[in-house]
Amino acid sequence: MATQTTNTRGNWNSKLGFVLAAAGSAVGLGNIWRFPTVMAENGGAAFLLVYALLVFIIGYPVMVAELSIGRSSKKNPVGAFRALSNSKFFPIVGFWCVLCGIAILSFYVIVAGWTLSYFFEQIFHYAGMMEAAQWISALDNGLLNATVAIIFMALTVWIILGGVSDGIERTVKFLMPLLLIVMVIMIVYVLFQPGAGEGIRVYLVPDFSAIDGDLILSALGQAFFSLSLGMGALITYGSYLSRKENIPEVGGYVTFADIGIAFLAGLLIMPAIFMAQAQGVEVFNEDGSLFAGVALIFQILPELFHNMGGVIGLIFGATFFLLLSIAALTSSISLLEVPTSYVIDEHKVRRKRAAIYVGSAVTVISIVIAFDTSLIGTIDFIFSDIGLPLGGLMMCIFLGYVWKMERAKDELRQGFENVDNSKFFPVWSIFIRFICPALIILILSMTVYNAVT
Ligand code: PFF
Repeated sequence: MATQTTNTRGNWNSKLGFVLAAAGSAVGLGNIWRFPTVMAENGGAAFLLVYALLVFIIGYPVMVAELSIGRSSKKNPVGAFRALSNSKFFPIVGFWCVLCGIAILSFYVIVAGWTLSYFFEQIFHYAGMMEAAQWISALDNGLLNATVAIIFMALTVWIILGGVSDGIERTVKFLMPLLLIVMVIMIVYVLFQPGAGEGIRVYLVPDFSAIDGDLILSALGQAFFSLSLGMGALITYGSYLSRKENIPEVGGYVTFADIGIAFLAGLLIMPAIFMAQAQGVEVFNEDGSLFAGVALIFQILPELFHNMGGVIGLIFGATFFLLLSIAALTSSISLLEVPTSYVIDEHKVRRKRAAIYVGSAVTVISIVIAFDTSLIGTIDFIFSDIGLPLGGLMMCIFLGYVWKMERAKDELRQGFENVDNSKFFPVWSIFIRFICPALIILILSMTVYNAVT
């Protein structure tokens, strides 16, 4: 039986439920939209290598840190820093986390909304309703952007209203396996099409000369964004985690699930781009670089699906965008859960009210962005590329120097009895106290330097 406190805050029903929820948070637009996009902008395979390295040397240790802080405090990010120390500074870091959640969610629901628009675009196109197809896929229509964002936010709020196990856990247990199955089917199909081989080559053969400061920063931002780190999403999800679970183990599953799906997304999208080229679709800019950004997913791929023609094109096109919507939904849930749990814990507001208040407030910001989508890049840069690594840095400093490693070890021991004899703890401890902070500071200073010069 769960204790009274954990009962009132909610709890995951099972280990699988938690892993799927956390993997659901991690796997999202970040894997299927942002990862191939950033990779295409940064020279393909070389980016993949740096990214994978950063996921293991920074992402995974920070994930274990967030989960430990969350489970030990059983609180949202602001409450967690307050509960575990007397520091006046760290609760402000908690606020920064909540703010990052709000900012990222505000543009996330717009891009997620586009995935819904393109789902319908594929259907309209198949049905020969060309005007409707064109209208619903116009990404510069502010009113349309606002409408799809509102619809997506309403879906997110609706799931959050159900609570932790009945809302979030039940939803992800169904959606995550579906996502994986559909993706694998699509990859198998794409790999046998003409042009796919060239895409695989660009994806998997690294050009090391492409590695520079910008690439490393983008890879770091992508690692934090994709693993849902640095804004307390995993503090919050960890706060619902049972003391029976082994944190380094479940954190490992989530990391593998995330990097695995990102890898699969690349395996689907890179060949698809070159397949589209083989069919005469424009995929390169004038300077010879690959189309990136929004165009990659929302221009090249829909055309590819149209070119497939008939029912096959419809099935692939509609399924792909449905897939993206599913991945986005299991992530937007976690983005909304951070500020919502803050309002529930710290302001003693009931879940239903808290979710509706926060969801409505974020929607107002989304509506502003909907009418000027160029804001997405700026907000993404400030809150994802800088904000999340900064949050991650603060978590390492908090855990290593304020809360202290020994207390974290006591927390890890619950569910991991062998922690005192294992090699995990001393290695993790070095990463959290020295390696992760040093690398994050180095990479962040490079970014700020580049931005101001
Ligand atoms: N990890 C999500 C994705 O890859 O789409 C985005 C995200 C969710 C970022 C939750 C941060 C977060 F806290």
